[in-house]
Amino acid sequence: MAVEKKSSRGAKGPPPKGKAKSSSKSSSQSSGSGTLIAVAVLGVLVAGVVYAHQAGHLNSYVEALQQGSAPSQKSPIDAVKDEIKNADAEFQQAETEKDAKTPPTKDAASKPAKKVNPEEDKAADDKKKQEGDAAKKAKKQKKPVRILQASIGAKEADYEIRQEIRAADRLHTKKKYQEALTEFRRLLKGNPKCIRCKYGEGAALHELADKQRSNKLVQEAIAAYKETCTWSGGRRSVRVAGCLAMSGRMSFMGQSRQSVKLLDTVLADLSEDVKILEEIGLQCLISAMNKKAKSALTRLLELDPENGFGLGHLGFVYKLELRYEEAVPLMFAGLRGNDDRSREPRFYYHLGDALQRLNRSDEAYEVYSQGADSGNFNSMYQRSTYNAPNLKAQPWWTPEETPYAADIKRIEKHWKTIRDEGLAVMNLNQGGFDKEEENLRKEGDWGQFTLFQQGHVLEDNCRKVPKTCKIMKSIKDAAGCKRGQVKYSVMQPGTVVWPHCGPTNCRLRFHLGLVVPDDVHIRCGNDTRTWYEGKTIVFDDSFEHEVWHHGKSFRMVFIMDFWHPDLTQRQKEELSPI
Ligand code: OGA
Ligand code: MN
Repeated sequence: MAVEKKSSRGAKGPPPKGKAKSSSKSSSQSSGSGTLIAVAVLGVLVAGVVYAHQAGHLNSYVEALQQGSAPSQKSPIDAVKDEIKNADAEFQQAETEKDAKTPPTKDAASKPAKKVNPEEDKAADDKKKQEGDAAKKAKKQKKPVRILQASIGAKEADYEIRQEIRAADRLHTKKKYQEALTEFRRLLKGNPKCIRCKYGEGAALHELADKQRSNKLVQEAIAAYKETCTWSGGRRSVRVAGCLAMSGRMSFMGQSRQSVKLLDTVLADLSEDVKILEEIGLQCLISAMNKKAKSALTRLLELDPENGFGLGHLGFVYKLELRYEEAVPLMFAGLRGNDDRSREPRFYYHLGDALQRLNRSDEAYEVYSQGADSGNFNSMYQRSTYNAPNLKAQPWWTPEETPYAADIKRIEKHWKTIRDEGLAVMNLNQGGFDKEEENLRKEGDWGQFTLFQQGHVLEDNCRKVPKTCKIMKSIKDAAGCKRGQVKYSVMQPGTVVWPHCGPTNCRLRFHLGLVVPDDVHIRCGNDTRTWYEGKTIVFDDSFEHEVWHHGKSFRMVFIMDFWHPDLTQRQKEELSPI
Protein backbone atom coordinates (compact mmCIF):
# COMPACT_ATOMS: atom_id res chain seq x y z
CA MET A 1 0.00 0.00 0.00
CA ALA A 2 1.36 3.39 -0.93
CA VAL A 3 2.04 5.07 2.31
CA GLU A 4 2.18 8.75 1.88
CA LYS A 5 4.97 10.53 3.54
CA LYS A 6 4.28 13.97 4.80
CA SER A 7 7.60 15.06 3.58
CA SER A 8 10.82 13.39 2.74
CA ARG A 9 13.70 15.64 3.34
CA GLY A 10 16.57 16.14 1.07
CA ALA A 11 14.92 17.37 -2.04
CA LYS A 12 16.52 20.73 -2.21
CA GLY A 13 14.69 23.61 -3.69
CA PRO A 14 16.30 26.26 -5.78
CA PRO A 15 18.65 28.70 -4.16
CA PRO A 16 16.97 31.70 -2.61
CA LYS A 17 15.95 33.95 -5.38
CA GLY A 18 17.22 37.45 -5.46
CA LYS A 19 13.83 38.96 -5.35
CA ALA A 20 10.37 37.74 -5.92
CA LYS A 21 8.98 39.82 -8.67
CA SER A 22 6.56 41.74 -6.57
CA SER A 23 7.96 42.12 -3.15
CA SER A 24 4.94 41.68 -0.96
CA LYS A 25 3.65 38.47 -2.36
CA SER A 26 2.85 35.25 -0.79
CA SER A 27 1.36 31.89 -1.18
CA SER A 28 -1.83 30.13 -0.54
CA GLN A 29 -2.05 26.41 -0.80
CA SER A 30 -3.96 25.73 -3.90
CA SER A 31 -5.05 22.71 -5.70
CA GLY A 32 -6.12 24.64 -8.70
CA SER A 33 -9.59 23.29 -8.41
CA GLY A 34 -8.97 20.55 -5.89
CA THR A 35 -12.29 19.44 -4.56
CA LEU A 36 -12.47 19.70 -0.86
CA ILE A 37 -14.71 17.70 1.27
CA ALA A 38 -16.24 20.79 2.73
CA VAL A 39 -17.04 22.02 -0.73
CA ALA A 40 -18.26 18.73 -2.04
CA VAL A 41 -20.47 18.00 0.90
CA LEU A 42 -21.58 21.39 1.99
CA GLY A 43 -21.02 23.70 -0.87
CA VAL A 44 -19.32 26.15 1.43
CA LEU A 45 -16.00 27.69 0.69
CA VAL A 46 -14.73 30.48 2.81
CA ALA A 47 -12.20 32.81 1.31
CA GLY A 48 -11.04 30.13 -1.06
CA VAL A 49 -8.92 28.34 1.48
CA VAL A 50 -10.09 25.54 3.66
CA TYR A 51 -8.64 23.69 6.57
CA ALA A 52 -8.26 20.36 4.84
CA HIS A 53 -8.13 18.96 1.39
CA GLN A 54 -10.33 16.02 0.77
CA ALA A 55 -7.35 13.77 0.69
CA GLY A 56 -6.68 14.65 4.27
CA HIS A 57 -10.00 13.33 5.34
CA LEU A 58 -10.87 9.93 4.22
CA ASN A 59 -14.51 9.18 4.48
CA SER A 60 -15.16 5.69 5.62
CA TYR A 61 -13.35 2.51 4.84
CA VAL A 62 -14.95 2.18 1.43
CA GLU A 63 -12.92 5.11 0.24
CA ALA A 64 -9.98 3.96 2.24
CA LEU A 65 -10.02 0.71 0.33
CA GLN A 66 -10.38 2.43 -3.00
CA GLN A 67 -7.80 5.02 -2.28
CA GLY A 68 -5.17 3.04 -0.51
CA SER A 69 -3.72 4.29 2.67
CA ALA A 70 -4.88 7.53 4.06
CA PRO A 71 -2.84 10.55 3.22
CA SER A 72 -3.93 11.94 6.51
CA GLN A 73 -0.98 11.53 8.74
CA LYS A 74 -2.83 9.61 11.38
CA SER A 75 -4.14 6.11 11.37
CA PRO A 76 -7.46 5.66 13.13
CA ILE A 77 -5.60 4.01 15.96
CA ASP A 78 -3.19 6.88 16.25
CA ALA A 79 -6.09 9.25 16.14
CA VAL A 80 -7.96 7.67 18.99
CA LYS A 81 -4.78 7.35 20.92
CA ASP A 82 -4.26 11.08 20.61
CA GLU A 83 -7.85 11.73 21.46
CA ILE A 84 -7.63 9.85 24.68
CA LYS A 85 -4.05 10.69 25.54
CA ASN A 86 -4.94 13.50 27.85
CA ALA A 87 -7.83 11.72 29.43
CA ASP A 88 -5.54 8.74 29.73
CA ALA A 89 -2.89 10.67 31.60
CA GLU A 90 -5.53 12.03 33.87
CA PHE A 91 -6.82 8.56 34.59
CA GLN A 92 -3.40 7.16 35.24
CA GLN A 93 -2.77 9.91 37.68
CA ALA A 94 -6.04 9.21 39.41
CA GLU A 95 -5.17 5.55 39.40
CA THR A 96 -1.80 6.18 41.00
CA GLU A 97 -3.47 8.26 43.61
CA LYS A 98 -5.99 5.57 44.26
CA ASP A 99 -3.49 2.75 44.40
CA ALA A 100 -1.72 4.65 47.10
CA LYS A 101 -4.72 4.25 49.33
CA THR A 102 -5.60 0.90 50.79
CA PRO A 103 -8.23 -0.06 51.35
CA PRO A 104 -10.35 2.26 49.32
CA THR A 105 -12.93 4.05 51.26
CA LYS A 106 -16.13 5.55 50.12
CA ASP A 107 -14.65 9.02 49.85
CA ALA A 108 -11.19 7.88 48.82
CA ALA A 109 -11.26 9.93 45.68
CA SER A 110 -11.48 13.17 47.58
CA LYS A 111 -8.51 12.51 49.85
CA PRO A 112 -5.07 13.80 48.92
CA ALA A 113 -2.77 11.27 47.32
CA LYS A 114 -0.10 9.74 49.49
CA LYS A 115 3.47 9.79 48.20
CA VAL A 116 4.56 6.21 47.80
CA ASN A 117 8.19 6.50 46.95
CA PRO A 118 9.85 9.69 45.82
CA GLU A 119 12.52 7.72 43.93
CA GLU A 120 9.87 6.02 41.94
CA ASP A 121 8.20 9.32 41.32
CA LYS A 122 11.41 10.75 39.98
CA ALA A 123 12.02 7.74 37.81
CA ALA A 124 8.51 8.06 36.50
CA ASP A 125 9.06 11.75 35.82
CA ASP A 126 12.29 11.05 33.97
CA LYS A 127 10.62 8.34 32.01
CA LYS A 128 7.79 10.64 31.16
CA LYS A 129 10.19 13.29 30.00
CA GLN A 130 12.13 10.81 27.92
CA GLU A 131 8.92 9.57 26.45
CA GLY A 132 7.93 13.14 25.71
CA ASP A 133 11.21 13.82 23.93
CA ALA A 134 11.05 10.57 22.04
CA ALA A 135 7.47 11.28 21.08
CA LYS A 136 8.50 14.62 19.71
CA LYS A 137 11.31 13.11 17.67
CA ALA A 138 9.29 10.19 16.43
CA LYS A 139 6.28 12.34 15.81
CA LYS A 140 5.50 10.65 12.57
CA GLN A 141 6.35 7.14 13.60
CA LYS A 142 3.70 4.67 14.37
CA LYS A 143 3.25 4.20 18.08
CA PRO A 144 1.93 1.12 19.78
CA VAL A 145 -1.74 0.84 20.45
CA ARG A 146 -2.74 2.22 23.78
CA ILE A 147 -6.12 2.32 25.27
CA LEU A 148 -7.81 4.08 28.06
CA GLN A 149 -6.44 2.72 31.28
CA ALA A 150 -8.91 1.41 33.78
CA SER A 151 -9.41 4.16 36.24
CA ILE A 152 -12.39 3.62 38.31
CA GLY A 153 -14.05 6.10 40.53
CA ALA A 154 -14.36 4.58 43.98
CA LYS A 155 -17.89 5.82 44.19
CA GLU A 156 -18.92 4.19 40.98
CA ALA A 157 -20.20 0.87 39.85
CA ASP A 158 -16.95 0.43 37.93
CA TYR A 159 -14.86 0.21 41.03
CA GLU A 160 -16.26 -3.11 42.20
CA ILE A 161 -15.21 -4.79 38.99
CA ARG A 162 -11.94 -3.00 38.41
CA GLN A 163 -9.98 -6.24 38.10
CA GLU A 164 -12.30 -7.49 35.39
CA ILE A 165 -12.07 -4.18 33.56
CA ARG A 166 -8.31 -4.37 33.66
CA ALA A 167 -8.41 -7.92 32.39
CA ALA A 168 -10.59 -6.82 29.48
CA ASP A 169 -8.26 -3.90 28.82
CA ARG A 170 -5.37 -6.33 28.71
CA LEU A 171 -7.15 -8.32 26.04
CA HIS A 172 -7.50 -5.10 24.10
CA THR A 173 -3.84 -4.22 24.57
CA LYS A 174 -2.93 -7.66 23.26
CA LYS A 175 -5.06 -6.86 20.22
CA LYS A 176 -7.60 -9.50 21.09
CA TYR A 177 -10.36 -7.09 20.25
CA GLN A 178 -13.11 -9.62 19.75
CA GLU A 179 -12.43 -11.14 23.16
CA ALA A 180 -12.21 -7.69 24.74
CA LEU A 181 -15.52 -6.78 23.19
CA THR A 182 -17.18 -9.95 24.44
CA GLU A 183 -15.79 -9.38 27.90
CA PHE A 184 -16.89 -5.75 28.11
CA ARG A 185 -20.35 -6.73 26.93
CA ARG A 186 -20.53 -9.49 29.51
CA LEU A 187 -19.49 -7.03 32.20
CA LEU A 188 -22.09 -4.54 31.04
CA LYS A 189 -24.82 -7.14 31.40
CA GLY A 190 -24.09 -7.55 35.07
CA ASN A 191 -23.09 -3.93 35.60
CA PRO A 192 -25.25 -1.76 33.39
CA LYS A 193 -23.89 1.39 35.03
CA CYS A 194 -20.27 0.66 34.18
CA ILE A 195 -19.25 3.57 31.96
CA ARG A 196 -15.75 2.17 31.53
CA CYS A 197 -17.24 -1.00 30.17
CA LYS A 198 -19.19 1.03 27.62
CA TYR A 199 -16.04 2.89 26.66
CA GLY A 200 -14.20 -0.42 26.41
CA GLU A 201 -16.92 -1.73 24.13
CA GLY A 202 -16.54 1.31 21.89
CA ALA A 203 -12.75 1.04 21.79
CA ALA A 204 -12.88 -2.66 20.91
CA LEU A 205 -15.43 -1.99 18.16
CA HIS A 206 -13.27 0.84 16.89
CA GLU A 207 -10.24 -1.41 16.57
CA LEU A 208 -12.27 -4.21 15.02
CA ALA A 209 -13.71 -1.77 12.52
CA ASP A 210 -10.23 -0.68 11.62
CA LYS A 211 -8.96 -4.22 11.31
CA GLN A 212 -11.87 -5.38 9.18
CA ARG A 213 -12.30 -2.05 7.43
CA SER A 214 -15.96 -2.20 8.25
CA ASN A 215 -18.11 0.90 8.18
CA LYS A 216 -20.85 -0.97 10.00
CA LEU A 217 -18.54 -1.60 12.92
CA VAL A 218 -17.48 2.06 12.93
CA GLN A 219 -21.12 2.98 13.30
CA GLU A 220 -21.40 0.59 16.22
CA ALA A 221 -18.28 2.06 17.77
CA ILE A 222 -19.73 5.53 17.34
CA ALA A 223 -22.94 4.39 19.05
CA ALA A 224 -21.02 2.98 22.02
CA TYR A 225 -18.83 6.08 22.26
CA LYS A 226 -21.93 8.23 22.07
CA GLU A 227 -23.49 6.36 24.98
CA THR A 228 -20.27 6.90 26.91
CA CYS A 229 -20.34 10.57 25.99
CA THR A 230 -23.89 11.06 27.20
CA TRP A 231 -23.71 8.66 30.18
CA SER A 232 -25.88 9.84 32.97
CA GLY A 233 -23.92 10.22 36.17
CA GLY A 234 -20.80 8.90 34.50
CA ARG A 235 -17.31 9.94 35.39
CA ARG A 236 -16.54 13.16 33.61
CA SER A 237 -13.15 12.26 32.22
CA VAL A 238 -14.45 9.00 30.76
CA ARG A 239 -17.37 10.86 29.25
CA VAL A 240 -15.02 13.37 27.67
CA ALA A 241 -12.90 10.55 26.26
CA GLY A 242 -16.08 8.98 24.87
CA CYS A 243 -17.17 12.25 23.30
CA LEU A 244 -13.78 12.82 21.69
CA ALA A 245 -13.58 9.29 20.35
CA MET A 246 -17.13 9.55 19.04
CA SER A 247 -16.36 12.79 17.31
CA GLY A 248 -13.13 11.46 15.83
CA ARG A 249 -14.90 8.48 14.32
CA MET A 250 -17.76 10.63 13.06
CA SER A 251 -15.25 12.90 11.41
CA PHE A 252 -13.65 9.87 9.78
CA MET A 253 -17.08 8.99 8.41
CA GLY A 254 -17.50 12.50 7.02
CA GLN A 255 -19.94 13.46 9.76
CA SER A 256 -18.11 16.41 11.25
CA ARG A 257 -21.18 18.60 11.16
CA GLN A 258 -23.36 16.04 12.89
CA SER A 259 -20.66 15.57 15.49
CA VAL A 260 -20.59 19.28 16.26
CA LYS A 261 -24.36 19.23 16.62
CA LEU A 262 -24.17 16.36 19.05
CA LEU A 263 -21.37 17.86 21.07
CA ASP A 264 -23.31 21.09 21.16
CA THR A 265 -26.67 19.85 22.23
CA VAL A 266 -25.83 16.85 24.33
CA LEU A 267 -23.15 18.39 26.41
CA ALA A 268 -24.51 21.17 28.52
CA ASP A 269 -22.23 20.32 31.43
CA LEU A 270 -19.17 19.60 29.27
CA SER A 271 -19.54 22.57 26.99
CA GLU A 272 -16.76 24.43 28.74
CA ASP A 273 -14.39 21.51 28.72
CA VAL A 274 -11.14 22.44 27.04
CA LYS A 275 -10.80 19.18 25.12
CA ILE A 276 -14.38 19.39 23.95
CA LEU A 277 -13.91 22.97 22.80
CA GLU A 278 -10.81 21.91 20.87
CA GLU A 279 -12.81 19.16 19.21
CA ILE A 280 -15.66 21.47 18.33
CA GLY A 281 -13.17 23.94 16.87
CA LEU A 282 -11.51 21.22 14.82
CA GLN A 283 -14.68 19.68 13.45
CA CYS A 284 -16.10 23.10 12.64
CA LEU A 285 -12.97 23.90 10.65
CA ILE A 286 -13.14 20.59 8.82
CA SER A 287 -16.72 21.29 7.86
CA ALA A 288 -16.07 24.93 6.97
CA MET A 289 -18.13 26.35 9.84
CA ASN A 290 -15.53 28.96 10.46
CA LYS A 291 -17.62 31.33 12.48
CA LYS A 292 -18.56 28.67 14.92
CA ALA A 293 -14.98 27.40 15.00
CA LYS A 294 -13.94 30.87 15.92
CA SER A 295 -16.29 31.19 18.83
CA ALA A 296 -15.32 27.76 20.23
CA LEU A 297 -11.61 28.55 19.88
CA THR A 298 -12.01 32.01 21.36
CA ARG A 299 -13.79 30.56 24.37
CA LEU A 300 -11.11 27.89 24.61
CA LEU A 301 -8.41 30.53 24.84
CA GLU A 302 -10.33 32.45 27.47
CA LEU A 303 -10.33 29.32 29.59
CA ASP A 304 -6.80 28.26 28.66
CA PRO A 305 -4.78 31.13 27.20
CA GLU A 306 -1.70 28.98 26.56
CA ASN A 307 -3.58 26.28 24.72
CA GLY A 308 -1.39 25.50 21.70
CA PHE A 309 -4.21 23.97 19.73
CA GLY A 310 -6.41 27.00 20.31
CA LEU A 311 -3.68 29.50 19.44
CA GLY A 312 -2.70 27.87 16.16
CA HIS A 313 -6.22 27.10 15.07
CA LEU A 314 -7.70 30.47 15.93
CA GLY A 315 -4.81 31.97 13.98
CA PHE A 316 -5.75 29.70 11.10
CA VAL A 317 -9.32 30.98 11.18
CA TYR A 318 -8.10 34.56 11.01
CA LYS A 319 -5.92 33.55 8.07
CA LEU A 320 -8.99 32.16 6.34
CA GLU A 321 -10.69 35.48 6.96
CA LEU A 322 -7.70 37.23 5.38
CA ARG A 323 -7.03 38.97 8.70
CA TYR A 324 -3.31 38.43 8.45
CA GLU A 325 -2.26 40.83 11.19
CA GLU A 326 -4.30 38.90 13.71
CA ALA A 327 -3.44 35.52 12.27
CA VAL A 328 0.32 35.87 12.42
CA PRO A 329 0.98 36.20 16.18
CA LEU A 330 -1.48 33.43 16.97
CA MET A 331 -0.02 31.05 14.42
CA PHE A 332 3.49 31.80 15.64
CA ALA A 333 2.32 31.01 19.16
CA GLY A 334 0.73 27.83 17.86
CA LEU A 335 4.04 26.70 16.33
CA ARG A 336 5.80 27.33 19.61
CA GLY A 337 3.03 25.91 21.70
CA ASN A 338 2.18 22.66 23.39
CA ASP A 339 0.15 20.94 20.71
CA ASP A 340 1.52 19.21 17.61
CA ARG A 341 -1.73 19.70 15.80
CA SER A 342 -0.79 23.35 15.41
CA ARG A 343 2.49 22.33 13.82
CA GLU A 344 1.08 20.47 10.86
CA PRO A 345 2.42 21.51 7.45
CA ARG A 346 -0.62 23.65 6.73
CA PHE A 347 0.26 25.87 9.67
CA TYR A 348 3.76 26.53 8.37
CA TYR A 349 2.30 27.08 4.92
CA HIS A 350 -0.35 29.57 5.92
CA LEU A 351 1.71 31.43 8.47
CA GLY A 352 4.35 31.99 5.79
CA ASP A 353 1.68 32.96 3.32
CA ALA A 354 0.21 35.51 5.70
CA LEU A 355 3.68 36.94 6.32
CA GLN A 356 4.40 37.21 2.61
CA ARG A 357 1.16 39.03 2.04
CA LEU A 358 2.07 41.40 4.87
CA ASN A 359 5.29 42.17 3.04
CA ARG A 360 7.31 40.28 5.68
CA SER A 361 9.04 37.91 3.27
CA ASP A 362 12.17 37.39 5.34
CA GLU A 363 10.11 36.07 8.23
CA ALA A 364 8.05 33.98 5.85
CA TYR A 365 11.15 32.23 4.54
CA GLU A 366 12.33 31.72 8.08
CA VAL A 367 9.07 29.90 8.75
CA TYR A 368 9.35 27.91 5.53
CA SER A 369 12.88 26.98 6.40
CA GLN A 370 11.76 25.76 9.82
CA GLY A 371 8.95 23.89 8.11
CA ALA A 372 11.49 22.14 5.90
CA ASP A 373 13.89 21.44 8.77
CA SER A 374 11.13 19.88 10.82
CA GLY A 375 10.17 17.58 7.95
CA ASN A 376 6.93 19.36 7.20
CA PHE A 377 8.01 20.37 3.69
CA ASN A 378 10.26 18.73 1.14
CA SER A 379 12.14 21.98 0.98
CA MET A 380 11.47 25.59 1.80
CA TYR A 381 10.42 26.15 -1.82
CA GLN A 382 8.51 22.93 -2.31
CA ARG A 383 5.68 23.21 0.16
CA SER A 384 3.10 20.75 -1.05
CA THR A 385 1.54 18.83 1.79
CA TYR A 386 0.22 15.66 0.13
CA ASN A 387 3.42 14.04 -0.97
CA ALA A 388 4.72 10.73 -2.14
CA PRO A 389 8.28 10.04 -1.03
CA ASN A 390 11.38 10.01 -3.20
CA LEU A 391 10.06 11.69 -6.31
CA LYS A 392 12.49 13.66 -8.41
CA ALA A 393 11.99 17.25 -7.42
CA GLN A 394 12.95 20.22 -9.57
CA PRO A 395 10.94 23.31 -10.47
CA TRP A 396 11.27 23.15 -14.24
CA TRP A 397 11.26 20.15 -16.55
CA THR A 398 11.36 19.61 -20.28
CA PRO A 399 8.88 17.29 -21.98
CA GLU A 400 11.86 15.14 -22.99
CA GLU A 401 12.74 14.55 -19.36
CA THR A 402 9.38 12.87 -18.94
CA PRO A 403 7.84 9.80 -20.58
CA TYR A 404 5.20 12.11 -22.08
CA ALA A 405 7.24 13.72 -24.86
CA ALA A 406 5.38 11.84 -27.62
CA ASP A 407 2.00 12.74 -26.11
CA ILE A 408 3.04 16.38 -25.99
CA LYS A 409 4.19 16.30 -29.62
CA ARG A 410 0.79 14.99 -30.63
CA ILE A 411 -1.03 17.60 -28.54
CA GLU A 412 1.12 20.40 -29.94
CA LYS A 413 0.31 19.22 -33.44
CA HIS A 414 -3.32 20.02 -32.67
CA TRP A 415 -2.72 23.20 -30.74
CA LYS A 416 -4.79 25.37 -33.04
CA THR A 417 -7.77 23.07 -32.68
CA ILE A 418 -7.39 23.20 -28.92
CA ARG A 419 -7.07 26.97 -29.03
CA ASP A 420 -10.08 27.49 -31.28
CA GLU A 421 -12.32 25.30 -29.18
CA GLY A 422 -11.25 27.24 -26.07
CA LEU A 423 -11.85 30.57 -27.80
CA ALA A 424 -15.32 29.43 -28.83
CA VAL A 425 -16.16 28.69 -25.20
CA MET A 426 -14.82 32.10 -24.22
CA ASN A 427 -16.98 33.74 -26.84
CA LEU A 428 -20.07 32.11 -25.40
CA ASN A 429 -20.13 34.89 -22.84
CA GLN A 430 -17.23 33.21 -21.03
CA GLY A 431 -19.65 30.28 -20.71
CA GLY A 432 -18.10 27.74 -18.43
CA PHE A 433 -15.08 29.69 -17.31
CA ASP A 434 -14.91 29.78 -13.53
CA LYS A 435 -13.35 32.68 -11.77
CA GLU A 436 -10.38 31.74 -9.63
CA GLU A 437 -11.76 31.57 -6.11
CA GLU A 438 -8.90 30.39 -4.01
CA ASN A 439 -7.74 33.83 -3.11
CA LEU A 440 -4.61 33.40 -5.16
CA ARG A 441 -4.98 36.61 -7.09
CA LYS A 442 -3.48 39.76 -5.78
CA GLU A 443 -5.38 41.58 -8.50
CA GLY A 444 -6.97 41.04 -11.86
CA ASP A 445 -9.17 38.54 -13.60
CA TRP A 446 -8.33 34.89 -14.05
CA GLY A 447 -10.70 32.16 -15.16
CA GLN A 448 -10.49 28.45 -15.78
CA PHE A 449 -12.50 26.00 -17.83
CA THR A 450 -11.99 22.49 -16.55
CA LEU A 451 -12.27 19.31 -18.62
CA PHE A 452 -10.86 16.69 -16.29
CA GLN A 453 -10.34 16.71 -12.55
CA GLN A 454 -9.32 14.07 -10.08
CA GLY A 455 -9.09 11.61 -12.95
CA HIS A 456 -12.70 12.16 -14.02
CA VAL A 457 -13.97 13.73 -17.18
CA LEU A 458 -16.43 16.64 -16.86
CA GLU A 459 -18.72 15.63 -19.68
CA ASP A 460 -20.75 18.83 -19.84
CA ASN A 461 -17.63 20.88 -20.43
CA CYS A 462 -16.15 18.31 -22.74
CA ARG A 463 -19.16 18.57 -25.03
CA LYS A 464 -18.18 22.18 -25.63
CA VAL A 465 -14.65 21.27 -26.71
CA PRO A 466 -15.13 17.79 -28.20
CA LYS A 467 -11.97 17.51 -30.28
CA THR A 468 -9.76 18.62 -27.44
CA CYS A 469 -11.39 16.19 -25.06
CA LYS A 470 -11.06 13.37 -27.55
CA ILE A 471 -7.34 13.93 -27.74
CA MET A 472 -6.97 14.15 -23.98
CA LYS A 473 -9.12 11.12 -23.25
CA SER A 474 -6.58 8.99 -25.03
CA ILE A 475 -3.80 10.19 -22.74
CA LYS A 476 -4.28 8.23 -19.56
CA ASP A 477 -1.56 9.78 -17.44
CA ALA A 478 -3.23 13.16 -17.80
CA ALA A 479 -6.94 12.34 -18.14
CA GLY A 480 -6.62 9.78 -15.36
CA CYS A 481 -4.39 11.85 -13.09
CA LYS A 482 -6.37 11.79 -9.87
CA ARG A 483 -4.21 14.46 -8.39
CA GLY A 484 -4.66 17.03 -11.08
CA GLN A 485 -6.76 18.67 -13.72
CA VAL A 486 -6.87 19.38 -17.43
CA LYS A 487 -8.18 22.89 -18.07
CA TYR A 488 -8.00 26.10 -20.02
CA SER A 489 -6.69 29.10 -18.14
CA VAL A 490 -7.44 32.62 -19.27
CA MET A 491 -5.79 35.59 -17.67
CA GLN A 492 -6.64 39.21 -18.33
CA PRO A 493 -4.07 42.04 -18.43
CA GLY A 494 -3.24 43.44 -15.02
CA THR A 495 -3.57 40.11 -13.23
CA VAL A 496 -1.06 39.29 -10.54
CA VAL A 497 -1.08 35.94 -8.78
CA TRP A 498 0.48 35.59 -5.35
CA PRO A 499 3.30 33.09 -5.08
CA HIS A 500 1.80 29.74 -4.10
CA CYS A 501 2.42 26.01 -4.13
CA GLY A 502 0.11 23.26 -5.32
CA PRO A 503 -1.05 20.67 -2.81
CA THR A 504 0.89 17.65 -4.07
CA ASN A 505 4.22 16.60 -5.54
CA CYS A 506 2.54 13.78 -7.43
CA ARG A 507 1.97 15.64 -10.68
CA LEU A 508 3.84 17.71 -13.22
CA ARG A 509 2.05 20.64 -14.74
CA PHE A 510 2.25 21.11 -18.53
CA HIS A 511 1.19 24.47 -19.99
CA LEU A 512 0.52 24.63 -23.72
CA GLY A 513 0.60 28.26 -24.89
CA LEU A 514 -2.51 29.15 -26.92
CA VAL A 515 -2.81 32.94 -26.94
CA VAL A 516 0.27 34.63 -25.57
CA PRO A 517 0.75 38.41 -25.62
CA ASP A 518 3.97 40.12 -24.56
CA ASP A 519 4.75 40.89 -20.96
CA VAL A 520 3.26 37.91 -19.24
CA HIS A 521 5.48 35.84 -16.98
CA ILE A 522 5.60 32.83 -14.76
CA ARG A 523 8.21 32.21 -12.10
CA CYS A 524 8.67 28.78 -10.61
CA GLY A 525 11.45 28.32 -8.11
CA ASN A 526 14.24 30.55 -9.23
CA ASP A 527 13.44 30.75 -12.92
CA THR A 528 11.10 33.13 -14.69
CA ARG A 529 9.77 32.14 -18.09
CA THR A 530 6.97 32.87 -20.51
CA TRP A 531 4.81 30.89 -22.91
CA TYR A 532 4.97 30.49 -26.67
CA GLU A 533 1.98 29.72 -28.83
CA GLY A 534 1.88 26.06 -29.77
CA LYS A 535 4.70 25.18 -27.35
CA THR A 536 4.59 23.43 -24.00
CA ILE A 537 6.43 24.33 -20.82
CA VAL A 538 6.58 21.97 -17.85
CA PHE A 539 6.92 22.78 -14.17
CA ASP A 540 6.34 21.11 -10.85
CA ASP A 541 3.69 23.26 -9.22
CA SER A 542 4.47 21.92 -5.76
CA PHE A 543 7.33 24.42 -5.98
CA GLU A 544 6.55 28.03 -5.27
CA HIS A 545 5.37 29.78 -8.42
CA GLU A 546 3.71 33.05 -9.35
CA VAL A 547 2.33 34.68 -12.48
CA TRP A 548 1.99 38.27 -13.55
CA HIS A 549 0.37 39.66 -16.64
CA HIS A 550 1.40 43.18 -17.56
CA GLY A 551 0.49 42.76 -21.20
CA LYS A 552 -2.24 44.34 -23.26
CA SER A 553 -4.61 41.49 -24.09
CA PHE A 554 -5.75 38.23 -22.60
CA ARG A 555 -3.51 35.21 -22.32
CA MET A 556 -4.84 31.67 -22.79
CA VAL A 557 -2.98 28.48 -21.92
CA PHE A 558 -4.02 24.85 -21.78
CA ILE A 559 -3.01 23.22 -18.49
CA MET A 560 -2.46 19.47 -18.30
CA ASP A 561 -1.43 17.71 -15.13
CA PHE A 562 0.36 14.42 -15.69
CA TRP A 563 1.26 11.91 -13.01
CA HIS A 564 4.80 12.39 -11.79
CA PRO A 565 6.91 9.96 -13.82
CA ASP A 566 8.48 8.36 -10.74
CA LEU A 567 5.17 7.09 -9.40
CA THR A 568 4.48 3.39 -9.77
CA GLN A 569 1.32 2.07 -11.39
CA ARG A 570 0.18 0.96 -7.98
CA GLN A 571 0.65 4.41 -6.51
CA LYS A 572 -1.33 5.92 -9.36
CA GLU A 573 -4.14 3.54 -8.55
CA GLU A 574 -4.04 3.93 -4.82
CA LEU A 575 -3.28 7.58 -4.17
CA SER A 576 -6.31 9.51 -3.02
CA PRO A 577 -7.70 12.14 -5.37
CA ILE A 578 -6.96 15.81 -4.86
C1 OGA B 1 -0.79 26.91 -12.25
C2 OGA B 1 -0.92 28.36 -12.15
C3 OGA B 1 -1.46 30.24 -13.48
C4 OGA B 1 -1.87 30.44 -14.90
O1 OGA B 1 -0.95 26.39 -13.35
O2 OGA B 1 -0.54 26.25 -11.21
O3 OGA B 1 -0.77 28.92 -11.09
O4 OGA B 1 -1.14 31.12 -15.58
N1 OGA B 1 -1.21 28.91 -13.30
O5 OGA B 1 -2.90 29.91 -15.30
MN1 MN C 1 -0.56 27.38 -9.48
